[in-house]
Amino acid sequence: MKILITGTDYGLGRALAEVYLQAGHTVFAGELNPRKSMLGKADHMYRDRLYRIKMDVTSITSVKEAFDEIKKHTESLDMIINNAAILGDNTKTIVEELDFDEMKRVIDTNAIGHARVCHHGVSMLLESETRLLVNITSEAGSLGTPDPNCDIPSAYGYFMSKAAANMCGKITATYLRDKGGRVIIIHPLYMATYMLGYKEPNATFEPEEVADMIIGITNEPDRFFPEGRNLCFISADGRKMEW
Ligand SMILES: NC(=O)c1ccc[n+]([C@@H]2O[C@H](COP(=O)([O-])OP(=O)(O)OC[C@H]3O[C@@H](n4cnc5c(N)ncnc54)[C@H](OP(=O)(O)O)[C@@H]3O)[C@@H](O)[C@H]2O)c1
Repeated sequence: MKILITGTDYGLGRALAEVYLQAGHTVFAGELNPRKSMLGKADHMYRDRLYRIKMDVTSITSVKEAFDEIKKHTESLDMIINNAAILGDNTKTIVEELDFDEMKRVIDTNAIGHARVCHHGVSMLLESETRLLVNITSEAGSLGTPDPNCDIPSAYGYFMSKAAANMCGKITATYLRDKGGRVIIIHPLYMATYMLGYKEPNATFEPEEVADMIIGITNEPDRFFPEGRNLCFISADGRKMEW
Protein backbone atom coordinates (compact mmCIF):
# COMPACT_ATOMS: atom_id res chain seq x y z
CA MET A 1 0.00 0.00 0.00
CA LYS A 2 0.95 3.64 -0.44
CA ILE A 3 0.32 5.53 2.78
CA LEU A 4 0.56 9.17 3.84
CA ILE A 5 1.09 9.78 7.56
CA THR A 6 1.19 13.30 9.03
CA GLY A 7 3.26 14.37 12.03
CA THR A 8 5.98 11.71 11.68
CA ASP A 9 8.83 13.61 13.38
CA TYR A 10 8.22 11.95 16.76
CA GLY A 11 5.87 9.83 18.80
CA LEU A 12 3.09 7.77 17.29
CA GLY A 13 3.57 9.23 13.79
CA ARG A 14 7.20 8.09 13.65
CA ALA A 15 6.28 4.69 15.09
CA LEU A 16 3.48 4.26 12.54
CA ALA A 17 5.82 5.15 9.67
CA GLU A 18 8.32 2.54 10.82
CA VAL A 19 5.68 -0.18 11.38
CA TYR A 20 4.20 0.28 7.89
CA LEU A 21 7.69 0.40 6.33
CA GLN A 22 8.67 -2.81 8.15
CA ALA A 23 5.52 -4.42 6.74
CA GLY A 24 6.68 -3.60 3.21
CA HIS A 25 4.50 -0.59 2.44
CA THR A 26 5.49 2.71 0.84
CA VAL A 27 5.27 5.62 3.26
CA PHE A 28 4.97 9.32 2.51
CA ALA A 29 5.96 10.80 5.85
CA GLY A 30 4.69 14.32 6.51
CA GLU A 31 7.34 16.04 8.61
CA LEU A 32 7.01 19.41 10.30
CA ASN A 33 10.74 19.68 11.04
CA PRO A 34 12.66 17.35 8.70
CA ARG A 35 16.01 18.31 10.22
CA LYS A 36 15.12 17.18 13.74
CA SER A 37 12.78 14.37 12.74
CA MET A 38 13.52 11.03 14.41
CA LEU A 39 12.41 9.31 11.21
CA GLY A 40 15.67 10.40 9.59
CA LYS A 41 17.24 7.34 11.22
CA ALA A 42 15.11 5.07 8.99
CA ASP A 43 16.25 6.81 5.77
CA HIS A 44 19.02 4.44 4.80
CA MET A 45 16.97 1.29 5.56
CA TYR A 46 14.01 2.16 3.35
CA ARG A 47 15.56 4.33 0.68
CA ASP A 48 13.20 3.12 -2.06
CA ARG A 49 9.93 3.20 -0.03
CA LEU A 50 10.24 6.11 2.40
CA TYR A 51 9.49 9.59 1.07
CA ARG A 52 10.05 12.27 3.69
CA ILE A 53 7.92 15.26 2.73
CA LYS A 54 7.81 18.60 4.52
CA MET A 55 4.23 19.29 5.62
CA ASP A 56 2.87 21.80 8.10
CA VAL A 57 -0.82 20.95 8.49
CA THR A 58 -1.62 24.50 9.63
CA SER A 59 -0.67 25.89 6.21
CA ILE A 60 -2.73 25.14 3.10
CA THR A 61 0.27 26.22 1.00
CA SER A 62 2.52 23.73 2.78
CA VAL A 63 -0.09 20.95 2.44
CA LYS A 64 -0.54 21.68 -1.28
CA GLU A 65 3.23 21.72 -1.87
CA ALA A 66 3.50 18.40 -0.01
CA PHE A 67 0.84 16.85 -2.26
CA ASP A 68 2.55 18.30 -5.37
CA GLU A 69 5.68 16.44 -4.22
CA ILE A 70 3.76 13.21 -3.50
CA LYS A 71 2.16 13.37 -6.97
CA LYS A 72 5.62 13.22 -8.54
CA HIS A 73 5.80 9.64 -7.22
CA THR A 74 2.23 8.30 -7.30
CA GLU A 75 -1.26 9.08 -8.58
CA SER A 76 -3.04 7.33 -5.70
CA LEU A 77 -2.85 6.82 -1.95
CA ASP A 78 -4.39 3.72 -0.36
CA MET A 79 -4.48 5.23 3.08
CA ILE A 80 -4.07 8.63 4.74
CA ILE A 81 -3.38 8.75 8.47
CA ASN A 82 -4.05 12.16 10.01
CA ASN A 83 -1.89 12.02 13.13
CA ALA A 84 -0.23 15.45 13.63
CA ALA A 85 -1.39 17.32 16.71
CA ILE A 86 -0.31 19.62 19.51
CA LEU A 87 -1.50 19.75 23.12
CA GLY A 88 -1.45 23.38 24.25
CA ASP A 89 -2.21 24.33 27.84
CA ASN A 90 -4.08 21.59 29.67
CA THR A 91 -4.20 23.07 33.17
CA LYS A 92 -6.26 26.27 33.19
CA THR A 93 -9.92 26.31 34.12
CA ILE A 94 -12.49 28.67 32.64
CA VAL A 95 -11.92 31.31 35.35
CA GLU A 96 -8.12 31.41 34.93
CA GLU A 97 -6.06 33.35 32.39
CA LEU A 98 -6.69 31.31 29.25
CA ASP A 99 -4.57 31.84 26.13
CA PHE A 100 -7.23 32.12 23.44
CA ASP A 101 -4.71 32.53 20.62
CA GLU A 102 -3.07 29.28 21.64
CA MET A 103 -6.51 27.65 21.80
CA LYS A 104 -7.04 28.68 18.16
CA ARG A 105 -3.64 27.26 17.19
CA VAL A 106 -4.48 23.92 18.80
CA ILE A 107 -7.83 23.69 17.00
CA ASP A 108 -6.19 24.86 13.76
CA THR A 109 -3.58 22.09 13.97
CA ASN A 110 -5.62 19.21 15.36
CA ALA A 111 -8.95 19.65 13.59
CA ILE A 112 -8.63 22.03 10.64
CA GLY A 113 -5.34 20.27 9.86
CA HIS A 114 -7.34 17.11 9.10
CA ALA A 115 -9.58 19.11 6.76
CA ARG A 116 -6.60 20.65 4.93
CA VAL A 117 -5.00 17.26 4.36
CA CYS A 118 -8.30 15.70 3.24
CA HIS A 119 -8.98 18.65 0.91
CA HIS A 120 -5.92 17.70 -1.15
CA GLY A 121 -5.78 14.00 -0.27
CA VAL A 122 -9.26 12.59 -0.80
CA SER A 123 -9.04 12.63 -4.61
CA MET A 124 -5.85 10.53 -4.39
CA LEU A 125 -7.53 8.13 -1.93
CA LEU A 126 -10.38 7.64 -4.38
CA GLU A 127 -7.89 6.59 -7.07
CA SER A 128 -6.95 3.56 -4.93
CA GLU A 129 -8.66 0.26 -4.14
CA THR A 130 -8.38 0.60 -0.35
CA ARG A 131 -9.72 4.16 0.07
CA LEU A 132 -9.11 4.25 3.81
CA LEU A 133 -8.90 7.43 5.87
CA VAL A 134 -7.59 7.01 9.42
CA ASN A 135 -7.93 9.97 11.76
CA ILE A 136 -6.08 9.82 15.06
CA THR A 137 -8.15 11.80 17.53
CA SER A 138 -8.62 10.92 21.21
CA GLU A 139 -11.03 9.90 23.92
CA ALA A 140 -10.64 13.60 24.80
CA GLY A 141 -12.97 14.32 21.86
CA SER A 142 -15.69 11.98 23.09
CA LEU A 143 -18.71 13.47 24.82
CA GLY A 144 -19.99 10.03 25.80
CA THR A 145 -16.99 8.08 27.07
CA PRO A 146 -16.96 8.26 30.87
CA ASP A 147 -13.18 8.06 31.17
CA PRO A 148 -11.72 9.61 34.33
CA ASN A 149 -8.64 10.81 32.34
CA CYS A 150 -10.91 13.16 30.44
CA ASP A 151 -13.14 14.26 33.33
CA ILE A 152 -11.10 17.40 34.01
CA PRO A 153 -12.15 21.08 33.98
CA SER A 154 -9.31 22.20 31.65
CA ALA A 155 -7.52 21.47 28.33
CA TYR A 156 -10.06 23.53 26.40
CA GLY A 157 -8.10 23.78 23.14
CA TYR A 158 -7.12 20.10 22.97
CA PHE A 159 -10.48 18.64 23.99
CA MET A 160 -12.46 20.94 21.69
CA SER A 161 -10.04 20.23 18.84
CA LYS A 162 -10.50 16.47 19.16
CA ALA A 163 -14.31 16.72 19.18
CA ALA A 164 -14.03 18.89 16.05
CA ALA A 165 -11.62 16.41 14.47
CA ASN A 166 -14.15 13.63 15.10
CA MET A 167 -16.76 15.70 13.30
CA CYS A 168 -14.35 16.35 10.41
CA GLY A 169 -14.03 12.57 10.02
CA LYS A 170 -17.81 12.10 10.15
CA ILE A 171 -18.48 14.73 7.48
CA THR A 172 -15.73 13.33 5.25
CA ALA A 173 -17.17 9.82 5.68
CA THR A 174 -20.52 11.12 4.45
CA TYR A 175 -18.80 12.53 1.35
CA LEU A 176 -16.99 9.23 0.78
CA ARG A 177 -20.00 6.98 1.47
CA ASP A 178 -21.22 6.43 -2.11
CA LYS A 179 -17.66 6.52 -3.48
CA GLY A 180 -16.38 3.46 -1.64
CA GLY A 181 -14.30 5.39 0.88
CA ARG A 182 -14.17 4.57 4.59
CA VAL A 183 -13.09 6.44 7.71
CA ILE A 184 -11.69 4.95 10.92
CA ILE A 185 -11.30 7.36 13.82
CA ILE A 186 -8.89 6.03 16.46
CA HIS A 187 -8.22 6.92 20.08
CA PRO A 188 -4.59 5.75 20.43
CA LEU A 189 -4.68 5.06 24.21
CA TYR A 190 -2.33 6.65 26.73
CA MET A 191 1.16 6.69 25.20
CA ALA A 192 4.60 7.59 26.47
CA THR A 193 5.31 10.34 23.95
CA TYR A 194 6.67 13.87 24.34
CA MET A 195 3.39 15.69 23.81
CA LEU A 196 3.75 17.33 27.23
CA GLY A 197 7.30 18.45 26.38
CA TYR A 198 8.79 15.55 28.35
CA LYS A 199 8.30 11.79 28.18
CA GLU A 200 4.94 11.04 29.79
CA PRO A 201 5.93 8.96 32.87
CA ASN A 202 2.53 7.43 33.72
CA ALA A 203 1.52 6.28 30.23
CA THR A 204 0.22 2.76 29.65
CA PHE A 205 1.78 2.10 26.23
CA GLU A 206 4.82 2.92 24.15
CA PRO A 207 3.95 4.46 20.77
CA GLU A 208 5.50 1.43 19.04
CA GLU A 209 2.98 -0.86 20.80
CA VAL A 210 0.10 1.33 19.68
CA ALA A 211 1.45 1.47 16.12
CA ASP A 212 1.39 -2.36 16.10
CA MET A 213 -2.27 -2.29 17.22
CA ILE A 214 -3.16 0.24 14.52
CA ILE A 215 -1.59 -1.75 11.69
CA GLY A 216 -3.61 -4.73 12.99
CA ILE A 217 -6.76 -2.63 12.63
CA THR A 218 -5.96 -1.34 9.13
CA ASN A 219 -4.95 -4.83 7.92
CA GLU A 220 -8.53 -6.01 8.58
CA PRO A 221 -10.70 -2.90 8.76
CA ASP A 222 -13.97 -4.63 7.80
CA ARG A 223 -14.60 -5.96 11.31
CA PHE A 224 -14.76 -2.48 12.85
CA PHE A 225 -17.50 -0.90 10.74
CA PRO A 226 -21.07 -1.26 11.98
CA GLU A 227 -23.34 -2.96 9.42
CA GLY A 228 -23.84 -0.72 6.40
CA ARG A 229 -21.63 2.10 7.73
CA ASN A 230 -18.33 3.48 6.39
CA LEU A 231 -17.42 5.21 9.67
CA CYS A 232 -16.30 4.01 13.09
CA PHE A 233 -14.73 5.50 16.22
CA ILE A 234 -12.64 2.96 18.12
CA SER A 235 -9.69 2.74 20.49
CA ALA A 236 -6.40 1.26 19.28
CA ASP A 237 -7.21 -1.91 21.24
CA GLY A 238 -10.40 -2.30 19.24
CA ARG A 239 -13.08 -1.02 21.63
CA LYS A 240 -16.00 0.94 20.26
CA MET A 241 -15.82 4.56 21.45
CA GLU A 242 -18.83 6.72 22.23
CA TRP A 243 -19.12 9.91 20.18
N1 LIG B 1 0.15 10.59 23.74
C1 LIG B 1 -1.06 10.21 24.10
O1 LIG B 1 -1.27 9.62 25.18
C2 LIG B 1 -2.23 10.48 23.20
C3 LIG B 1 -3.50 10.18 23.67
C4 LIG B 1 -4.59 10.38 22.84
C5 LIG B 1 -4.38 10.87 21.56
N2 LIG B 1 -3.14 11.17 21.13
C6 LIG B 1 -2.98 11.64 19.75
O2 LIG B 1 -2.03 10.83 19.07
C7 LIG B 1 -1.43 11.60 18.00
C8 LIG B 1 0.08 11.51 18.10
O3 LIG B 1 0.49 12.20 19.27
P1 LIG B 1 1.83 11.83 20.04
O4 LIG B 1 1.45 11.41 21.40
O5 LIG B 1 2.68 10.94 19.19
O6 LIG B 1 2.49 13.29 20.18
P2 LIG B 1 3.87 13.87 19.68
O7 LIG B 1 4.99 12.96 20.01
O8 LIG B 1 3.92 15.28 20.20
O9 LIG B 1 3.70 13.87 18.10
C9 LIG B 1 2.93 14.82 17.41
C10 LIG B 1 3.57 15.01 16.05
O10 LIG B 1 2.83 16.02 15.34
C11 LIG B 1 3.77 16.92 14.76
N3 LIG B 1 3.16 18.21 14.52
C12 LIG B 1 2.81 19.17 15.41
N4 LIG B 1 2.31 20.23 14.77
C13 LIG B 1 2.34 19.95 13.44
C14 LIG B 1 1.97 20.65 12.27
N5 LIG B 1 1.50 21.89 12.31
N6 LIG B 1 2.14 20.04 11.07
C15 LIG B 1 2.64 18.78 11.00
N7 LIG B 1 3.04 18.08 12.07
C16 LIG B 1 2.88 18.66 13.27
C17 LIG B 1 4.89 17.00 15.77
O11 LIG B 1 6.06 17.49 15.14
P3 LIG B 1 7.21 18.21 16.04
O12 LIG B 1 7.51 17.28 17.16
O13 LIG B 1 8.34 18.41 15.10
O14 LIG B 1 6.63 19.49 16.55
C18 LIG B 1 5.02 15.53 16.16
O15 LIG B 1 5.82 14.83 15.25
C19 LIG B 1 -1.97 13.01 18.15
O16 LIG B 1 -3.07 13.19 17.28
C20 LIG B 1 -2.44 13.05 19.61
O17 LIG B 1 -3.43 14.03 19.84
C21 LIG B 1 -2.05 10.99 21.92
